[in-house]
Amino acid sequence: MHTVLVKGPGVLSGSFTPPGDKSISHRALMLGALSEGQSTYTHFLQAEDCLHTMKAFQALGLTIDLFREEGKIVIQGKGLFGLEAPRSELYLGNSGTTMRLLLGILAGQRFEATLTGDPSLSLRPMRRVTQPLKQMGAQIKGRDNANFAPLTIHGGRLHGIDFENRLGSAQVKSALLLGGLYAQGKTRIYEEIPSRDHTERFLKAAGAKFYTEENWLVIEKTDVLKPFDAEIPGDISAAAFFIVGSAMIPGSQLAIKNVGLNPTRTGVIDVLIRMGAKVEVKQSQAEPEPLGTIYVEGRRLTGTRISKREIPSLIDELPVLMTAMALAEGESLISGAEELRVKETDRIHSMVNNLNHIGGKLRELPDGCLIEGVEKFRPGKIQSFGDHRTAMSLAIASLALEGELLIEDTDCVATSFPSFFQEFDRLKVQ
Ligand code: S3P
Repeated sequence: MHTVLVKGPGVLSGSFTPPGDKSISHRALMLGALSEGQSTYTHFLQAEDCLHTMKAFQALGLTIDLFREEGKIVIQGKGLFGLEAPRSELYLGNSGTTMRLLLGILAGQRFEATLTGDPSLSLRPMRRVTQPLKQMGAQIKGRDNANFAPLTIHGGRLHGIDFENRLGSAQVKSALLLGGLYAQGKTRIYEEIPSRDHTERFLKAAGAKFYTEENWLVIEKTDVLKPFDAEIPGDISAAAFFIVGSAMIPGSQLAIKNVGLNPTRTGVIDVLIRMGAKVEVKQSQAEPEPLGTIYVEGRRLTGTRISKREIPSLIDELPVLMTAMALAEGESLISGAEELRVKETDRIHSMVNNLNHIGGKLRELPDGCLIEGVEKFRPGKIQSFGDHRTAMSLAIASLALEGELLIEDTDCVATSFPSFFQEFDRLKVQ
């Protein structure tokens, strides 16, 4: 287990191109695998989570070539019924997205597969996906009534259901949309609060029978998906560490290029602007995914509130936003964010404790936290608890302290952003 020593204070300066979007990279692989013919994606995210998706589809009989230097991935799609029964269990590491979306696809197959993961993934709730998929006709077994991995799924003849996505989860929605490709009748999903819509964009581009009916997303049984080629935008969730870091540290000046600007993902920008940040967004592409450049200049921020409606648009950015709020003038409140407790770690608990450990003033609430801003943090030692976003959010906190911060258990950044510490060193000016 590695540790990293970071030194503060510092400002962020220069320009940065984030690695490929994690959510989109997973979906590119999955939809490519299910389409008929070859799909090529550039700027594919070569991080552990997406590599687990790649290996899972290779174990399901797909030919997938990754050209590491070029960041290009080529998938020989075999159609909706071209997957083969795996010879052994599919190990998915830390990746909740892989497990949940794959369950949706496997629900429509005619064979059995067992999905496993690392200790963190084995503790993450899966009933949110397995329960509706069972209702659609899949057989799924696992601990606590199919709530925890290892999960064994035997697909079957599915039929559509009506489902309300109360958790605001894009993973649940996506699993059911993918299962819906195989289901007789309509599979309809109601979303009160919109969550990231990358699956829907892929389904449309691939020619699936997908449409909306007022607030319902509808998918019908589809016979053929078309392959296609695309460039994967930079991940705004990876960029967020540097966007927030530069926005909250006076003297910083950063340009983030080729970054995804899908409006279901940009809540972090809205919150920063509300906190008084100087952020400018220039969009250069609208379809298939919005893309552009974000310019940030640092200044002292002021506190704000984030409540339930906004959570899905910034769920993965909450840890780093907590770091910014802990330094902002006045009080901040995060509520309606109980989903943070079932991420790679309980992120409310891990962020509140770690930030308090270095001089923050945060109080844990069941569904969020109350934060009183301080002017700077103090040196110390903190724990990632094996959670990539916790480790990176705390590294960013070091910009606002005088001295050293020891971050324990940093290997986890490889889950989503393997080059994070190299980029941090490159952009940091002390
Ligand atoms: C994701 C959806 C979100 C997010 C995760 C990626 C996706 O999870 O936290 O990192 O790719 O669909 P939930 O669907 O559980 O909110």
